[in-house]
Amino acid sequence: MTAVGVMSGPITDRRAVVPLLRRLRSDAGRADPLPVWAELRELGDVVPAPWGGYFVTGFEACSQVLRGRNWLVPDFGWQERQGDTARWREPATREMTRTLSRLNPPEHTFQRRALGNLFDRDTLETLRPRIAAHVTRLLDRLRSHLRADGTADFVPLVGDQLPIHTVGRWLGVPAEHYPRILDFTHRQVHAQELLPTKSELAISARATVEMRDFFTRLVAHRRAHPGNDVLSGWIRHWDAQYPDDRAAADQTLYDLTMFITIASLETTATLLTNAVWFLTRDPDRADWLRRHPEHTDDAIDEVLRYDPPIHLNSRYAAEDTVLAGVPMAKDTTVHVLYGAANHDPRRNENPHVFDIRRKGGHLTFGGGAHYCLGSALARLEARLLLTQLLERFPTLRPIAAPTYAPRMVFRRVTSLKVTT
Ligand code: HEM
Repeated sequence: MTAVGVMSGPITDRRAVVPLLRRLRSDAGRADPLPVWAELRELGDVVPAPWGGYFVTGFEACSQVLRGRNWLVPDFGWQERQGDTARWREPATREMTRTLSRLNPPEHTFQRRALGNLFDRDTLETLRPRIAAHVTRLLDRLRSHLRADGTADFVPLVGDQLPIHTVGRWLGVPAEHYPRILDFTHRQVHAQELLPTKSELAISARATVEMRDFFTRLVAHRRAHPGNDVLSGWIRHWDAQYPDDRAAADQTLYDLTMFITIASLETTATLLTNAVWFLTRDPDRADWLRRHPEHTDDAIDEVLRYDPPIHLNSRYAAEDTVLAGVPMAKDTTVHVLYGAANHDPRRNENPHVFDIRRKGGHLTFGGGAHYCLGSALARLEARLLLTQLLERFPTLRPIAAPTYAPRMVFRRVTSLKVTT
């Protein structure tokens, strides 16, 4: 680890970031955000945002925000105090604001304690053979496509499929529903973008209705046919917490199943596709990892550091505070830029170099009270996929750079064409 240097001071011009944000939203910026992150960092560890609040670019400052008790997630209370209340009252936005990631203590602590460590060692060991078998099936399919056509798209065939099959089976959702779940989650996520347009919010609102209908039915069906699965366990727990209020129990159960599904799909799919892209675009790199499988976990962490599936997350100041030397009043919003932080040269030397043996630091799974609950599962999926893929497809390589959905917050790779 390199020493974390002194944090740099602020600029005051709120328009300074506008051209950089524009570049981040462009095709070129999505394909390679690294130069823009570097320019943002050069503006300071905290950079004023045009609409008020700040972007946080430095590793140490981002880490302080994510871990600090004086930084809270923007919840309903914060939204009500904003000028633009219409924006926050959008149905798709409200739906997400009720979920774990937008709760603060004491509600957050209450729900998080009830969930416990979702993917402890025993659970992962139980899931491992199923996931490995599914990887085999997906790679069989990839092989058939490659044999038939010479090329194949990794994203729809494997990258998008493994996460939904993993989390779907874990929650006991029948496989026939997976295409529908993938479809509405891709559409719902617009509402979580930084500045969604009206039409994007309308798309999200429609997807939210479908999502609510699906997960409400799932909970009701499982309540009628309880088993020994994770969702049946949650139903027993929340029914006991709210013995006289079935509606409150059902609301919490819906929020949890919906959010955990949505949180696990695109994120893990992006990790899996990025891993294949970063490793196979350089045949020597893939070959080296095949000969050194003991470094698979290091490779996964370098992929996570290099191109985080979530690019931005927000917090607000619970009280007047100072961040990287900049005084911030209570309620000030800050946007943590995970990618800029992960590429901070004060934390990771030569950050633009993809180096499997780096053992660097990253904030890709967040930090503190909201640290990702699915990191161990995502890592397991990536490990099982890479282990089989590198063995079975030693000459796999991309034929073009990946394409990305037009988003800034939730990165989604829409296509990665490969051949052997
Ligand atoms: C590569 C894959 C993934 C990435 C990059 C990722 C990233 C993140 C990030 C950045 C956060 C917010 C942390 C913060 O606010 O400090 C988060 C929260 C969360 N993630 Fe993940 N995630 C991934 C996979 C998963 C999976 C597979 C699941 C579940 C099966 C999951 C469940 C959650 C949950 C429930 C939270 C909310 C935790 C809370 O607010 O207390 N994630 N994740």
